[in-house]
Amino acid sequence: SSAICIAGGGSTYTPGIVLMLLDNLDRFPISRITLYDNNEERQAKLAKACAIMMKEKAPDIVFNWTSDPQTAFTGIDFVMAHIRVGLYEMREKDEKIPLKYGVVGQETCGPGGIAYGMRSIGPVIEIADYMEKYSPNAWLLNYSNPASIVAEATRRLRPGKHIINICDMPVALETMMAAALSERTGKTYTRKDFEVRYYGLNHFGWWTDIHTKDGKDVMPILKDYIKENGFATNAKDFQHKDASWKETYQKAKDIYALDPTTIPSTYLKYYLFPDEVVAHSNPAYTRANEVMEGREKEVFGIAERIIAKGTAKEDTFAVGVHASFIVDLACAIRYNTKERMLLIVENNGAIANLDDTAMVEIPCLVGSSGAEALTVGKIPSFQLGLINEQLYVEKLVVEAWIEGSYGKLWQALTLSKTVPSASVAKKILDELMEANKEYWPTL
Ligand code: G6P
Repeated sequence: SSAICIAGGGSTYTPGIVLMLLDNLDRFPISRITLYDNNEERQAKLAKACAIMMKEKAPDIVFNWTSDPQTAFTGIDFVMAHIRVGLYEMREKDEKIPLKYGVVGQETCGPGGIAYGMRSIGPVIEIADYMEKYSPNAWLLNYSNPASIVAEATRRLRPGKHIINICDMPVALETMMAAALSERTGKTYTRKDFEVRYYGLNHFGWWTDIHTKDGKDVMPILKDYIKENGFATNAKDFQHKDASWKETYQKAKDIYALDPTTIPSTYLKYYLFPDEVVAHSNPAYTRANEVMEGREKEVFGIAERIIAKGTAKEDTFAVGVHASFIVDLACAIRYNTKERMLLIVENNGAIANLDDTAMVEIPCLVGSSGAEALTVGKIPSFQLGLINEQLYVEKLVVEAWIEGSYGKLWQALTLSKTVPSASVAKKILDELMEANKEYWPTL
């Protein structure tokens, strides 16, 4: 069985991930779960509630929490990392500062994503180094955002280590496509019934083929659905119930219209329809505010009630069903299952007409030695043009972080499709830099 460290123990997603791990013990036995966070106080509130829950549900599994790296990272097999550097307070700034200048305010796209990337690189590398020091044979399964920039940083700074970068978005969208297919055919499908071809960068990709494992081409049915409705938001385990996310899923039909040969990732809306996104945004109330008032209060409220009652039998956290891809990944490595999954890996020729050093999101077979990327081939002009622009934004951010270069960061913002000019880029950058001075390296 495996010993797990969850880095980002104070995340509101953590209790759901713990529950999801318990749901999967038959295929992925666990001996220990340790929560790790550098914010002791925040983590303790959730950890104490999880401890009560663990005692009731799985008394044989060692459960503890710590902010001491040596305790957290010694004797483990997997680190599951989902850290949010600067918490929602900084996400709010990432979203609101660009909006002041009429530019998309989003946590992983455009200037907000760049600012968040500059905060996240150091702490993710630090986690990789703790793991290397205390459990050199362990694997880091990293889904900390912004995943593309973080993945490029791990490629540049810690190449060849046991690090796998992955994101939940393809899984979430495939879950919705399975719901759409079920609705259209009257048969029940899950994402596990699909075998897909897909390529792109993280939060920037396209499905080109979806077959069910018994060989049926379901692209025509899915395209037809998306053309009319966007992604299905009625899936049972659909994770984003808020109106703002529903809008994003529905907007997929307009992205689809631009290239009806593929099915797009919803995040493309920020790059392809930035004017509409800005027009629909409230610069005084963004997604960070929604989450602070919603998920944050809800999850910490449940934790407080569990602690007060001393039992988790009456109040329960939502199970992170869609997060089960993390178990798929850990299982694939541990038990050499060769499962086919979408991961963020170095291109190395998989997309033939793209930079070999790009960190691309593509199908891989996963086994005990890590990820083996499948070939994509040449991609068409529209996608190639879009990807190249975004790819070098991400590379410039990582170069700026490594070199402490203001100039490269300014170039990164200027190159972003979401930003209209170099002068607007500079104004946003200067304000983001001031807001992030505790977190960014000195430029
Ligand atoms: C999706 C994305 C994640 C992102 C999350 C934000 O799941 O794939 O990368 O972190 O949405 O959700 P939130 O509810 O915090 O806006």
